Amino acid sequence: MHTTTTIRDFRAARAGLDTLGFVPTMGFLHEGHLSLVRQAKRECGTAAVSIFVNPAQFGPNEDLARYPRDLNHDLALLGEAGADLVFMPGVEEIYPPGYRTYVTVEGLTERLESAIRPGHFRGVATVVCKLLNIVQAEKAYFGQKDAQQCMVIDQMARDLAIPTAIVIAPTVREPDGLAMSSRNVYLSPEDRRAATVLIRALHAAEQAHNAGERDAERLREIVRGVLASEPRGQPDYVSCADPLTLQELDAVGQQGALLSLAVRFGTTRLLDKALLGGIQPSALSPQPSALSL
Ligand code: PAF
Repeated sequence: MHTTTTIRDFRAARAGLDTLGFVPTMGFLHEGHLSLVRQAKRECGTAAVSIFVNPAQFGPNEDLARYPRDLNHDLALLGEAGADLVFMPGVEEIYPPGYRTYVTVEGLTERLESAIRPGHFRGVATVVCKLLNIVQAEKAYFGQKDAQQCMVIDQMARDLAIPTAIVIAPTVREPDGLAMSSRNVYLSPEDRRAATVLIRALHAAEQAHNAGERDAERLREIVRGVLASEPRGQPDYVSCADPLTLQELDAVGQQGALLSLAVRFGTTRLLDKALLGGIQPSALSPQPSALSL
């Protein structure tokens, strides 16, 4: 496994490789990341991973300074997962003095996470665009838990004709259903136990949808009702939105719905989502939607 901190060295190492799959991360890796690395390796033959805690996607009062880091453990896990190349740039390698270019994906970055974390997706789109330019992979892999992020990246890659296919992989969960996230480590034992309320809330709405409920506000109410049963969690939002535009729905139609939520446990925010209904990507768009892959 080749590790490097510079763009120049990464490009030299990449030049000797054929088909490459790429997994961008912020480190503190868990099974969700590792399953993406194994998928990249399986599908492309060679896997590259970046570890970069991107300051541009953190707001001034967010957890940039205390974001969990454990580089040695990450590298050991990546070795076991079969990664070939690991890019671990410092902040000045990505944003050198005089850096001025940012990527904004309009229309998908005004609601949900963006309403709570202004500027977050500008930072994500910018760093992912730059990393895709550096890595020049055939495919790049992202976890579907961060549903809005997946949509933003997929849209950006299509709009800017980035020649890397964006692959969205299913959410990897703990045995009790909590979606894996590097931030789960912040949870106290009591909050960790209480956090299963997210998947319970989503399941309740999924069941109602399967039983024929199509009223989007009723589905949101079902989610809010289950969340209210757990006083340790404070919901930031509960959304039942169009899976292609993220506009809140009145009714779930043929296009299905993206049901998503964010809940605070103390200072830790947890996200999760469920897709309701069968989405027929070819009927909706010449390009499959990121979320339907
Ligand atoms: O999902 C993440 O870990 C980050 O947002 C990403 C895609 C690596 C960009 O910094």
